[in-house]
Amino acid sequence: MPVQPSPVVMGIETSCDETGVALVRDGVLLGEALSTSMDQHARYGGVVPEIAARAHVQAVVPCVRAALSAAGLTAADIGAVAVTAGPGLATALHVGVSAAKAYATALDVPLYGVHHLAGHLAADLVDGEPLPDPVIALIVSGGHTSLLRVGDLARDPIIHLGDTLDDAAGECFDKVARVLGLPYPGGPAVDREAVGNDPTALAFPRPLTGRTDSPYMFSFSGLKTAVARWVEAHPDSTVPAGDVIASFQEAVVDVLTAKAIRACRDREIGDLLIVGGVAANSRLRALAAQRCDAASIRLRIPARKRCTDNGVMIAALGDLLVRSGAAPSRPDLAAMPGAFLDYAQLGVAHPAQRAA
Ligand code: KG4
Ligand code: ZN
Repeated sequence: MPVQPSPVVMGIETSCDETGVALVRDGVLLGEALSTSMDQHARYGGVVPEIAARAHVQAVVPCVRAALSAAGLTAADIGAVAVTAGPGLATALHVGVSAAKAYATALDVPLYGVHHLAGHLAADLVDGEPLPDPVIALIVSGGHTSLLRVGDLARDPIIHLGDTLDDAAGECFDKVARVLGLPYPGGPAVDREAVGNDPTALAFPRPLTGRTDSPYMFSFSGLKTAVARWVEAHPDSTVPAGDVIASFQEAVVDVLTAKAIRACRDREIGDLLIVGGVAANSRLRALAAQRCDAASIRLRIPARKRCTDNGVMIAALGDLLVRSGAAPSRPDLAAMPGAFLDYAQLGVAHPAQRAA
């Protein structure tokens, strides 16, 4: 019997300040487009939801056209639509969800609502191998920091080993950058400024790493305060600013990598996946590689450009769901700004949820 080709899946991402659209079929990226409103937020020092939403409204259709044109396809070639339904900024999510529903209805194709963080987990599926099953995953983004046990991403519940009690890792980078007078977004600025400087100059705290602390939980707000206090208390310090920045960054990546490796060891899982915007951090990538090597753990981190928000990760996850035979999400799929990550797909009743 001839094998039916998989449909072309269009993925749409609008959860924060990036409008991303991509087309993926059978794990192959066909075309993508990305538009960012980052520059419009820089003067406010953080993302302004209304500005982000307006930028998505202006960018989403041009991005769809650009992705189709890059793929050499027309809208009639789209066989399914996947969209970030949450979590994220409510006003921003609404734009993507509305656009996805409109395309799915007009083209008469199925709609898949997906969890933004599960999209991060799927970010490099288009570049290579399927994800190891099981895998320990560390998600480090602007809004979330979670240590997870992931099985079959399309079907299995996602187990949270630990999350952050307060600030997310990316949030900590952004807030500390502000204290240190670096431009928004803070993470890339800290990364740049730390290069070539001394990460051991100052011993900033490593939160929740004591013997009696929860091994998998995170907390970054105390570290943020420690850096702010140090800067306040040392106005005439001779410690170069670059060393302060490198020492702060070292504290974050030390904690992240130590806990991720501990989880792999405890659970006897030999694969670690690190994803999300902070996974673009060069020191995190280097330290994770070094520590995984020493612990004989296979490390997977998407290419830097696929760590921050983009449409490819959503299309890749949609393509995985379609090929796994997942049922489409309900046509009345709604934006879920606070969606918890327990399954990759949103807007559908999962077996465990049905039984509950
Ligand atoms: O995943 P993402 O693009 O958006 C969310 O889902 O939140 O992550 C954005 C976060 C921001 O906090 C940003 O400062 C941080 O990722 N980030 C970085 C780097 N690039 C982006 N943090 C540290 N080093 C980087 N190179
Ligand atoms: Zn993200």
